[in-house]
Amino acid sequence: KQEPPAPAASAPAPAAAPAPAAKVYVVGTDAAYAPFESQNEKGDIVGFDIEVVKAVAQKAGMEVKFLNTPWEGIFNSVAQGDRDLLVSAITITSERKQTLDFSEPYFDAQQLIAVKKDSKISTFNDLKKLKVGVQNGTTGDEVVAKLQGKESANIKRFESTPLALKELEAGGVDAVVADNGVVVNYVNNNSESKFKTVSDSSFATEQYGIAVKKGNAELLQKINKGLADVRADGTYKQIYTKYFGA
Ligand code: ARG
Repeated sequence: KQEPPAPAASAPAPAAAPAPAAKVYVVGTDAAYAPFESQNEKGDIVGFDIEVVKAVAQKAGMEVKFLNTPWEGIFNSVAQGDRDLLVSAITITSERKQTLDFSEPYFDAQQLIAVKKDSKISTFNDLKKLKVGVQNGTTGDEVVAKLQGKESANIKRFESTPLALKELEAGGVDAVVADNGVVVNYVNNNSESKFKTVSDSSFATEQYGIAVKKGNAELLQKINKGLADVRADGTYKQIYTKYFGA
């Protein structure tokens, strides 16, 4: 037979409640998209987007931590709660708005074509029957899919934009279509200047937003307030100038 449990000792006097640990907001970013987000030699995640979010967080009194997150799973990561917010040069699109909520836009962008210096390509339409590299699932992918048809065998989809650019260098594709800031950065930083850019008036203006889980109105409001504050006090301008000039 089992003994009845000993009577519980009288409860200890409640200790003073410890100060609740400040929430650390986990920010997902695909850090292979310089100058917006990349990893430096030390492994730190740096870039325009990173500085904007740090400034916003400071205004909003939020602690943030950045985690490198492959583009492929980035939207799911916030839906599943592994990330609280995303900053990754993400274009606000109506399709994405069905599954995510976006902050007010914080940056204007457009697609731009990268080609080899001696290329004859001069318009987007020239890419109709050529091999084009894109980062899978980006707006660059979308515009090329529209031009060639989604199933076109000439669309080479890569996990990251640097991989697509590498393929351009290797001659495996005739062009890469990606966001202008990234293409310009790549072409300018190529020491042997082997590439040039080709713009096209058919490319629409895109706007980047910070994404949160659908329905997370509280966080979205903090972010939007922080964005308004960094714009108002000149911090945004300062970061912008640092990366893109006056
Ligand atoms: N703006 C484009 C899009 O939203 C490309 C973004 C890619 N970002 C990145 N960090 N790889 O589809």
